[in-house]
Amino acid sequence: MLQDMKILVGKANDKNVYIYPQMANRHGLIAGATGTGKTVTLKVLAESFSDCGVPVFFADVKGDLSGMCKKGENSENVSKRVESMGLDALGFDFREYPVTYWDVYEEKGLPLRTTITEMGPLLMSRIMGLNETQTGIMTLIFKIADDEGLLLIDTKDLRSMIQYVGENAKEYTLKYGNITTQSLGAISRALVGLEAEGGDKFFGEPALNITDWFSTDMSGKGYIQILDCQKLINNPTMYATFLLWMMSELFETLPEMGDLEKPKMVFFFDEAHMLFDNAPASLLSKIEQVVKLIRSKGVGIYFVTQNPKDIPDGVMSQLGNKVQHALHAYTPNEQKAAKAAAGSYRENPEFDTYETMLALGTGEALVSVLDEKGIPTVVEKCKILPPQSYMGAIDDATRDSKIKGHVLYTKYSQYEDRDSAYEFLTRRNLEIEQAKQEELDAAAQAKEEAALMKEQEKKEAQAQKAKEREENAKKRATKTAAKSVANSVAGTVGREVGKTVGKVGGKFGKTLGGNLGASLARGIIGTLFK
Ligand SMILES: Nc1ncnc2c1ncn2[C@@H]1O[C@H](COP(=O)(O)OP(=O)(O)OP(=O)(O)O)[C@@H](O)[C@H]1O
Ligand SMILES: [Mg+2]
Repeated sequence: MLQDMKILVGKANDKNVYIYPQMANRHGLIAGATGTGKTVTLKVLAESFSDCGVPVFFADVKGDLSGMCKKGENSENVSKRVESMGLDALGFDFREYPVTYWDVYEEKGLPLRTTITEMGPLLMSRIMGLNETQTGIMTLIFKIADDEGLLLIDTKDLRSMIQYVGENAKEYTLKYGNITTQSLGAISRALVGLEAEGGDKFFGEPALNITDWFSTDMSGKGYIQILDCQKLINNPTMYATFLLWMMSELFETLPEMGDLEKPKMVFFFDEAHMLFDNAPASLLSKIEQVVKLIRSKGVGIYFVTQNPKDIPDGVMSQLGNKVQHALHAYTPNEQKAAKAAAGSYRENPEFDTYETMLALGTGEALVSVLDEKGIPTVVEKCKILPPQSYMGAIDDATRDSKIKGHVLYTKYSQYEDRDSAYEFLTRRNLEIEQAKQEELDAAAQAKEEAALMKEQEKKEAQAQKAKEREENAKKRATKTAAKSVANSVAGTVGREVGKTVGKVGGKFGKTLGGNLGASLARGIIGTLFK
């Protein structure tokens, strides 16, 4: 609830306790044991930021925040609180808020996607649970893709790229250092795991343009972006990496803004311990750095967690606006953590911080904020405001109509599959295969042609020989015929000549003359037929 453009968080007896919008980018903490009121506090703050015209993002881990698009309803609990805090006099009313629902799994909101390139190698490795060596190779894969102008949009692209680097590992090892098949194999396997957990949905286009979140409705209320995380939270690494990506995305997108009257945007990170659990030192220092620098870009980050000890010191020291609900301190460890939490507040002489912290009721909290000068205020024991919007989840029909009626529905609802590394490398492999096939086909054809030619030559040679044989046979036949004609003619002629000579020369002469005549005629006719 806004009061004189200040965010009313709660009341310490009659004293109003505010967060100052100009200090709201100095980040914050909402902590407390389960059931103590963290989610309601988050809701109350989100409503006030929206009233102030500041867009808000939060992850709805249990589904109990989706009701913000509806006006709140009176209940005994709420009306008692309104009355006891004198909120009617301050203009408390039930309100609805402009909400955009998002869901990585595309079930309870607009699909929220990003590209592999935008996620970057470090976060990609984190989401896939890669070790240091594999992370190094992942960085190389990104570099090679970048050098060769290959877009990494979805998991298909990354898979093709891993395969491509594997096929050319020798060349890239020479250029960049050792790329082992074992590491590439491990990255491939991790990618299969990521796809099975929904990563294939999360990576794709249209990718979220985070500037679409910097919007207000017609009445000037900041839009509240609600990411449904009931399913996503089952995969803590993906959930955590996703939140980190958003933070770095904002960091890269926004220019330096200096001191602003109110933040450009406020983020609430519920189950914040998941961001830091098992995070390698390099990532922790990156988070610390981003948290430190992002405030000058006008972004406030509020960590919501059960125990403040879940937040690393380097981050905790940067949280200016703190709402601490009750903490349990049954075990020595819990007592130590609660004492440390209490010790981080500026003492209020009216009560003991530690003892009070342990005895807080539901919807009560210790609150310390940065005052107008940026100095932490003395800690106050507050009753937190009740929310003005509906407490709890909305029904599916309302959610559906809100999703489909949203101004961003057309932009984000349809999946796009642009030409990227996968398509390019598939085409390239196909071309290489085709060229290889063409080469093989050409070789086979040349072989076939050579064989045909040889066959042809053989046939021609055989035909030639047959022709020659035929001609020779013909010649021989002609010769024989000529001989026989000559013989017969010569015989007849000889005989006739002989007869004539015989007639002339008597019996002796007849015989001699016949033989001579035949031999003579054979010689003459033989020469004629040669
Ligand atoms: N400020 C408040 N005004 C009215 N009711 C409140 C307030 N804070 C808490 N409550 C009541 O307490 C219940 C539990 O609060 P809430 O869900 O915020 O706890 P939580 O700390 O988020 O628990 P968990 O760790 O399990 O998520 C609410 O459903 C609501 O009924
Ligand atoms: Mg909660």
